[in-house]
Amino acid sequence: MIEPKEIAVEARNLSKIVQDATGSLTILDDINLRITAGETVAIVGASGSGKSTLLGLLAGLDVPTSGSVHIFGRELFLLDEDGRAALRAEHVGFVFQSFQLLPHLNALENVLLPMELTGRTPDGASPIDAARGLLQRVGLGERLAHYPKYLSGGEQQRVALARAFVLRPPLLLADEPTGSLDARTGEAVIDLMFELNRERGSTLLLVTHDPGIAQRCDRQIELHAGRVLASAVAV
Ligand SMILES: Nc1ncnc2c1ncn2[C@@H]1O[C@H](COP(=O)(O)OP(=O)(O)O)[C@@H](O)[C@H]1O
Ligand SMILES: [Mg+2]
Repeated sequence: MIEPKEIAVEARNLSKIVQDATGSLTILDDINLRITAGETVAIVGASGSGKSTLLGLLAGLDVPTSGSVHIFGRELFLLDEDGRAALRAEHVGFVFQSFQLLPHLNALENVLLPMELTGRTPDGASPIDAARGLLQRVGLGERLAHYPKYLSGGEQQRVALARAFVLRPPLLLADEPTGSLDARTGEAVIDLMFELNRERGSTLLLVTHDPGIAQRCDRQIELHAGRVLASAVAV
């Protein structure tokens, strides 16, 4: 018997409308999508099409005007902010274009942070061993005590990858993770992200401008002016 696949993330009738000086602006308009556990999906679309807003909503970092998001079956916006933070801590890793490392913490401390904030460690390892092991895995075993400003962009994004993966979240969201890196450095970071995702069997939802990166995903979802234009299986 074939087991039905678990749904990692699902958006139903998701809209985001904000008020600005000229009136109301529809940023996302009735988005419906469903990502199965284990899939890799690229979200593509022109700048301003709503990609970052969508990813922020799927992570519960922002609230929608209407609609729902389910993360592994739990409805995100029925929870209060603390509840969403707890759900996120358990299920979601996030990688940003601008790395978003804490500048006053070194590489090891940045990776320790999710474990300190949640009081959880993966697989019974000690926090230090988990953080050190993952930093070694991303090639930064010699940079544990370096502060972000003494790391290159590519190194900072590797630390951010280690931070995102350290609690072994089943869902990884990445918003243009190579957008601040040169092409070659970006490719190495993306390779690493796909490898970690595969090793851990997690689900990857990746916003990217780069058609080559999008092609590496199982499927692409294209946004145009806040709507899903096309959802295509990558060839
Ligand atoms: N809080 C906000 N208030 C007003 N406009 C916003 C807000 N957030 C995003 N926008 C606008 O919504 C559109 C989509 O933004 P964004 O999701 O960042 O797009 P993308 O990531 O695809 O470039 C843009 O036109 C942006 O200026
Ligand atoms: Mg964006």
